[in-house]
Amino acid sequence: MADLLALVVRYLHIFSAILWIGALGFSVMVLRRVMPRLEMPARKETLRQLIPLVIRFVPATAVMTIAFGAILYLLLGNFDPNALWGSTWGLLLLASLILALALFAFGLLVVIRASRKILGHLNEAACSHGPEMGRLTKTFNNGQVVALAWGAVILALMVLATEAL
Ligand code: HEM
Repeated sequence: MADLLALVVRYLHIFSAILWIGALGFSVMVLRRVMPRLEMPARKETLRQLIPLVIRFVPATAVMTIAFGAILYLLLGNFDPNALWGSTWGLLLLASLILALALFAFGLLVVIRASRKILGHLNEAACSHGPEMGRLTKTFNNGQVVALAWGAVILALMVLATEAL
């Protein structure tokens, strides 16, 4: 029964992680390159439709990844402090948990905050904040690249932890 529970939680954890880091990867490697090719009105309309969804979807998948990951960590470590922080496996996963929480905070405070402000300007009847929009777009784009690299580091720790078990 415990094995089945761990199997289901592992599946949900990996599935959420694919959605979270996959969404970041798609945004950095596909959307970021397509957007500048669109005419300005089309670009604005696409962003106006995209941002409200993205700022709910990405944090939700992040929360699921972290929550299922933490449950899996406790289950596989049998709630035993020796395994949870007294082994290489446990320490790698603890480091991942801290890094993932920090990544979540970074995402909310930098990327999502910038995208909310961009949306606010896009919804203005006549926006005259060109330079501010330029700065926000740069923060939004660079923030996503940083978040993707950060996610890749956590993924590497996951693979190392699996090997260390
Ligand atoms: C960017 C965030 C994360 C990603 C992309 C991610 C991805 C993955 C993947 C792909 C695996 C399977 C690895 C393999 O079988 O080789 C895995 C396993 C696992 N993850 Fe995560 N994960 C993330 C965050 C977390 C967090 C925050 C925790 C909480 C401690 C966690 C706990 C675990 C555990 C316990 C396993 C099983 C390790 C084992 O079998 O020994 N993950 N993760």
